[in-house]
Amino acid sequence: PTYEDLDPVRYLGNRSSGRMGFAVAAEAKTRGADVHLVTGPTTLEVPPGIDAVRIRSAAEMEHAVFSIMQEQDLDVVVMTAAVADYTFVEGCAATKLHKDDSELVLRLRRTTDILSSLGSWRGDAKYPVLVGFSAETGPALDRAQDKLKRKGVDLIVANDISERGAGFDGDTNVATLVFEDGIDPLSIRTKRELARSILDRVCLKFVDGGRSVPRHV
Ligand code: CTP
Repeated sequence: PTYEDLDPVRYLGNRSSGRMGFAVAAEAKTRGADVHLVTGPTTLEVPPGIDAVRIRSAAEMEHAVFSIMQEQDLDVVVMTAAVADYTFVEGCAATKLHKDDSELVLRLRRTTDILSSLGSWRGDAKYPVLVGFSAETGPALDRAQDKLKRKGVDLIVANDISERGAGFDGDTNVATLVFEDGIDPLSIRTKRELARSILDRVCLKFVDGGRSVPRHV
C-alpha cells in the first residue's frame, strides 16, 4: 500500500498487505534476477539478497521507482502496489488537526499514475516489460483490457477481490492474465504460485523477442 498523511496522526491508506509484491520479488530472486523492491508500509520481511527501498506515499514511490529506472537497466517492472489514486491537496499538516462541531471537508487531488508514466516513458520500445495489476469488486476483464491499452503495458493481472480466495489479505489469489493477444484465466493459487505464472508469462515475452531471460526486475 501507500499512505497519504493528513496530519502527524492520520492517513489515507488501503487494505493491501504487500504480500503479492513480496512474492513476485522473492520468485524473481529465486530465478536468479537482481531484484529492486520498492515497498510501502508493511510488516513483511524483505527476502534475503533483495535491494529494498521503503517509502510511504505515492509521490515517494514515484520518486523511488524513477530513481531506480535511471540507475539500472531494468528488464521488467511489476507494479503490484496499491498506489493511492488521490492525496490531500493541502499536504500533511505540521500539527495534529483538532475537531470542532462543523463538517470537515477534505480536498483530494490525483496522484501521478506511475504505471502509465512508465508506459509513456517506454514509448514504442519493447523493454522493460511492464506488468500492472487491476483489482475490482466484480468481473474485471473489460476494465483490465482497457487498462492494458490505456497504460501502454504488456500484461495486466486482473483479479476480482470479492471472489473467494482472492484479495488483499489472504495467501491466495484468483486472477486472469490479460495481454495483447489473449487472456489466461488462472485457477486459485498461492500468491507465490501466481508470481510464478506471471514471471513465466513475462519470460515468454523475452523468448518471443529473441532475448535471453530477464536479469533485472
Ligand atoms: N498504479 C500506479 N500509480 C497509481 C495508481 C495505480 O502505478 N497512482 C498502478 C498499480 O500499481 C496497478 C495499476 O496501476 O498496477 C492499477 O491501475 P488502476 O487504474 O489504479 O486500477 P484500479 O484502481 O483498479 O482502477 P480504477 O481506479 O479505475 O478502479
